[in-house]
Amino acid sequence: MRFQISAAFAGLATTFVSSVAAVERLEVTVVPSHVRPYVVRAYTLPGVVVGTQIYRFPVTGPSSDNAFTLISTAAPASSELGVLPHTHLEHYENFYCLRGRYNLWAPKDGNNEGRVFSPGDYGAVPHNTTHTFQITDPFTEMVGVISPGGLEDLFYFLGTANISSKTHSPFVPDSNATMPGGDSAVISSLERFDVHAKLEYNPPMSFNENGTTGSSEPWHNGANKLAEDASTPFFVAKDYGPKYLAGDAKNGYSIVQPFITSIQSDGNFTEGTITLSQPQQGDSNVTWNLPGHTALEVVDGLVKVEIDGYPEVASLSIGDVVFVPAGKTFSFWAAAAFSKVLYVGQGDDTVDSRLMARAKTWDSPVFPA
Ligand SMILES: *[C@@H]1O[C@H](CO)[C@@H](O)[C@H](O)[C@H]1NC(C)=O
Ligand SMILES: *[C@@H]1O[C@H](CO)[C@@H](O)[C@H](O)[C@H]1NC(C)=O
Ligand SMILES: *[C@@H]1O[C@H](CO)[C@@H](O)[C@H](O)[C@H]1NC(C)=O
Ligand SMILES: *[C@@H]1O[C@H](CO)[C@@H](O)[C@H](O)[C@H]1NC(C)=O
Ligand SMILES: *[C@@H]1O[C@H](CO)[C@@H](O)[C@H](O)[C@H]1NC(C)=O
Ligand SMILES: *[C@@H]1O[C@H](CO)[C@@H](O)[C@H](O)[C@H]1NC(C)=O
Repeated sequence: MRFQISAAFAGLATTFVSSVAAVERLEVTVVPSHVRPYVVRAYTLPGVVVGTQIYRFPVTGPSSDNAFTLISTAAPASSELGVLPHTHLEHYENFYCLRGRYNLWAPKDGNNEGRVFSPGDYGAVPHNTTHTFQITDPFTEMVGVISPGGLEDLFYFLGTANISSKTHSPFVPDSNATMPGGDSAVISSLERFDVHAKLEYNPPMSFNENGTTGSSEPWHNGANKLAEDASTPFFVAKDYGPKYLAGDAKNGYSIVQPFITSIQSDGNFTEGTITLSQPQQGDSNVTWNLPGHTALEVVDGLVKVEIDGYPEVASLSIGDVVFVPAGKTFSFWAAAAFSKVLYVGQGDDTVDSRLMARAKTWDSPVFPA
């Protein structure tokens, strides 16, 4: 309301307006250092250079009151590991593939688990799980979610340069694709960032025909289950995990595909995807008002978002992110026939858990025809 009033007065008295808060734009080009609603566009944020990889942080510790950090890592293929093997003892890390291909290893308890990731694939790296990755396609983008927030400080520390590209290129095309993503002396000095080097770990490069090492679990050839506790690493191939259908054709269907529920996170956060059909009539936006912070990253189609107090209706395409603080009323809906968001929610009363409570189990990645 305050914003509408200041806008109304804007034409009347500039001296008065200067003493009233200006209308705050939802879309920003630098992530706020305090909690507020915002939208950021793919590749437009300043990035931190680590080897050939560019790290951008659509959600940070400060912007989410340390609920979680959301990372975009854009990079070319490399003949080397992207990072040397390590664990985190206090951060739960989640890998999602937005573009290209990479290998992720997350061995634990003698299971030498590695997977070839293609877009839509997900991997959970709980506390005290050794992990490493290698980027293998010419344009790869990893989306990371880390709970709690703040791990971006590690990359600010490791970064050899900050880049801000005029063209918003995802990464620098001529960068050195053979440059190793880590130095053993450096990674061993990072314990203050909750990075514990595991240099004795040698990731197996012998992936079988289905893109796995050391596993009898299916990978793109059978259903994947989520772990039954908060300490077991697991992988979900795109569209092979659990699925729940809510909504209807008129108002739009939602298919929730959870990766992390309160079971895997001890109630700290949830993550997964929501596939949306386009509503047939714009007469019943579902509005949300949640006790924890929420971030949505569009991974397919086009999604519109409206947040109470902001006049803009934002249109988000692939890689764009909206952050909605706890207690803010918002709605989002598909503006393309097939749209999908990656969601992250703080706590366990989140968009996905509310949708799942009124959904039925569903066995297709697409909504009813
Ligand atoms: C991490 O896991 C190893 C076994 O893989 C165990 O020996 C160690 O105690 C664990 N550390 C913590 C802090 O839980
Ligand atoms: C990059 O920017 C961050 C945040 O502004 C700053 O702390 C850091 O020193 C910069 N890094 C380099 C290598 O310039
Ligand atoms: C690429 O990286 C290698 C290994 O660090 C280095 O020897 C070489 O000079 C680099 N090339 C360029 C063009 O930066
Ligand atoms: C790969 O998947 C196929 C099809 O499900 C299966 O028959 C085969 O045994 C798998 N190979 C390995 C090495 O697991
Ligand atoms: C959940 O958060 C609590 C409190 O910060 C922390 O002690 C616990 O390790 C976290 N669990 C997971 C699985 O992230
Ligand atoms: C949601 O609300 C916005 C703004 O009032 C409106 O433009 C849009 O059509 C609505 N969409 C749906 C699906 O109800």
